Amino acid sequence: MSTFQAPKGTYDLIPPHSATYLAVRDAIAAPVRRAGYGYVETPGFENVELFARGVGESTDIVTKEMYAFETKGGDRLALRPEGTASVLRAALQAGLHKGGNLPVKLWYSGSYYRYERPQKGRYRHFSQVGAEAIGAEDPALDAELVILAHDAYRSLGLRGFRILLNSLGDAKCRPVYRAALQEFLRGLDLDEDTRHRIDVNPLRVLDDKRPAVRSQLADAPLFRDHLCEDCRAYHAQVRELLTAAGIAFEDDPTLVRGLDYYTRTTFEFVHDGLGSQSAVGGGGRYDGLSEMIGGPALPSVGWALGVDRTVLALEAEGITLELPASTDVYAVPLGEEARQVLFAQVTELRRAGVATDLAYGGKGLKNAMKSANRSGARLALVAGERDLAEGLVQLKDLTSGEQRPVALDALVDEVRKALD
Ligand code: HAM
Repeated sequence: MSTFQAPKGTYDLIPPHSATYLAVRDAIAAPVRRAGYGYVETPGFENVELFARGVGESTDIVTKEMYAFETKGGDRLALRPEGTASVLRAALQAGLHKGGNLPVKLWYSGSYYRYERPQKGRYRHFSQVGAEAIGAEDPALDAELVILAHDAYRSLGLRGFRILLNSLGDAKCRPVYRAALQEFLRGLDLDEDTRHRIDVNPLRVLDDKRPAVRSQLADAPLFRDHLCEDCRAYHAQVRELLTAAGIAFEDDPTLVRGLDYYTRTTFEFVHDGLGSQSAVGGGGRYDGLSEMIGGPALPSVGWALGVDRTVLALEAEGITLELPASTDVYAVPLGEEARQVLFAQVTELRRAGVATDLAYGGKGLKNAMKSANRSGARLALVAGERDLAEGLVQLKDLTSGEQRPVALDALVDEVRKALD
């Protein structure tokens, strides 16, 4: 029988590479936590209706990419394709918006699932870190989120990303723009699928990547020329705040995003070293989503950054994160008695906060020292029967090769000193 493989469009995170993923998640979360966002965790699946209503019945995510299924009990569920609808659902369910302390700021980190055509940077199982600020209409909040994502990427050393910014208007000006766009699109030479899209979701046509469609869109009406006075003023404030914070961004009037809940501010972080799957993160304002899923009016804004693509961006820029070694001290017992003594010492060292490992499996000295070197440890503890009889172990510096005996009862202190 052949061995099992990870399902198509998925991959495993394996040491040592997996350490980079953890570090990227931490680096994205750090600025967000400093800005008052609290951690939220929601189930990996939800009622399918939540996404159908929230993300949009006519989006690719809902019509083509959702892992939807019926349970044995007859519930219609879906693996979450994104986090925003779930996080808002959780906030509403817990009544977080009722405490009079708005916005409710939440961040999350987890796995998401989309049945997409797999390629480099596009997977069926991927990982996001996200942040949502629920229940406040304030351009400073939109700007805060863009700045936090920018700072997260910068803290990883990334430089080759750009920020694309747009406004998708509100319930007042969107229908006017939509009608103008539909009228324009109906005059073009388009295939049947795209013509259908003009009726259900005309803004998505602007996102069509096919050259034959693109070339016809050059004169399409742009939302920025149709924004109502409130949306125009709001967008101007977001832009001013970003500019004052020294954040460079590009206005992209064709940025429409793949989810239907957006209003006003939308943005995407794109990285130029990633080929076609260039969006490393994206987000925006979603003032109507709460009402769409049965809640009160709660204007909100947020983003999600793709961990997989952020790691690819690091690789594209040749950045290796400086990660602390997972093991500082590696213990090498020579013989059964030494094994027992060192096993106890390893536990003591770990309890004292020193990352310590032991040569398991009765390895000989040569093999055990090889493992010590491979572990990345700075120090080795070597103990044979003769040393132990005198209450000693050998402390070896694996960089310089120097070795000296230390008393067992002073071991934790001596190791700490040697690591300082
Ligand atoms: P999104 O643009 O669909 O937005 O996804 C955010 C990021 O997740 C993308 O920029 C990309 O880096 C990553 N991503 C998405 N799909 C895949 C995939 N198939 N493989 C690898 N990475 C992927 C959202 O999900 C919204 N919930 C963001 C948001 C939060 N808007 C407001 N609040």
